[in-house]
Amino acid sequence: MSANIMTLTRHIIDEQYKYPEATGEFTNLMNDICFAAKRISYHTNKAGLLDVLGETDLINVQGEKVQKLDVFAHDTMVKALDHGGNLCCMASEEEEGIISIPEQYPIGKYVCLFDPLDGSSNIDANVSVGTIFSIYKRITDDDKPGTIEDCLQPGHQQVCAGYVVYGSSTMLVYTTGNGVHGFTLDPSFGEFVLSHPNIKIPDRANIYSVNESNFDYWDNNVKNYIRYVKATDEKTNRPLNSRYIGSMVSDIHRNLLYGGIFLYPASSKAQNGKLRLIYEANPMAFIVEQAGGRASNGHGDIMQIVPKELHQRVPLFIGSKYDVVMVEEFIRGERES
Ligand code: AHG
Ligand code: MN
Ligand code: MN
Repeated sequence: MSANIMTLTRHIIDEQYKYPEATGEFTNLMNDICFAAKRISYHTNKAGLLDVLGETDLINVQGEKVQKLDVFAHDTMVKALDHGGNLCCMASEEEEGIISIPEQYPIGKYVCLFDPLDGSSNIDANVSVGTIFSIYKRITDDDKPGTIEDCLQPGHQQVCAGYVVYGSSTMLVYTTGNGVHGFTLDPSFGEFVLSHPNIKIPDRANIYSVNESNFDYWDNNVKNYIRYVKATDEKTNRPLNSRYIGSMVSDIHRNLLYGGIFLYPASSKAQNGKLRLIYEANPMAFIVEQAGGRASNGHGDIMQIVPKELHQRVPLFIGSKYDVVMVEEFIRGERES
């Protein structure tokens, strides 16, 4: 293999060398996540095919029951991460309580929180979906099983966050607080290869991404902001272009590369919006901020919020810095146009 190819594994090990006190636990954890991502990627690509194969009695060619992909992705993450001795517990968007490490396996010093399959309503239409993960150091006593306290840390305590997009190719993007790096899965040899080093989000948005069918349910300040981005003004590059996939990972990934703002505001139907603080908002916030952008609940930094419960929801405004700062001004009522 050419020495110039930077695989994800090598990148993580290079990072580890920067910290003499590192034990390799984090490197092992990332390798486990990487394995799960490859497995989910493989199954996502076969989603339509599995349906066909499972048509009669929902049993696939391996004789296993065909599962909904978000259950499959959840199980894959749990089974990839439960035995390595790197975690004290985990939590998943697909499970109500925390997920303990089975007794027979050693307990580690990290916590992993994840959304195993984001955008899963899109899967049957062949639209890209993703996996989101967030890693913290545990704050409770070592050697004992982790507790919910370990899972309810504010986002600024994250030691790593990442996502995988299962799109026209599969990409893993992650940060440990030293910039944001993107790796594309080369299916020919099954490795994630560095394709997007040091990703920076443009300061100004070209795109706005929001489910505008909720317009009537937003409060006036949010309505004013959306009216503003749609109004024509050459000097300020308006109207912004509208793009909304309905898979947050894919929407934010595109905006990260092209410059954009993604919004999921509170509404009279959903007082705290739809997206989940610890599984979705915090990891995406860490990544976008590391890329030079901003993530807010409309009033301040998402990552300062201390979570009270695992499945807590939060309004989300995330993307190019200039535009997130501006939407906060609209929300404070400091501007109307
Ligand atoms: P999930 O599939 O993990 O439940 O998340 C779906 C989320 C997110 O990906 C997306 O941005 C949002 O739901 C779309 O919601 P709307 O259909 O209300 O626009
Ligand atoms: Mn999701
Ligand atoms: Mn999900």
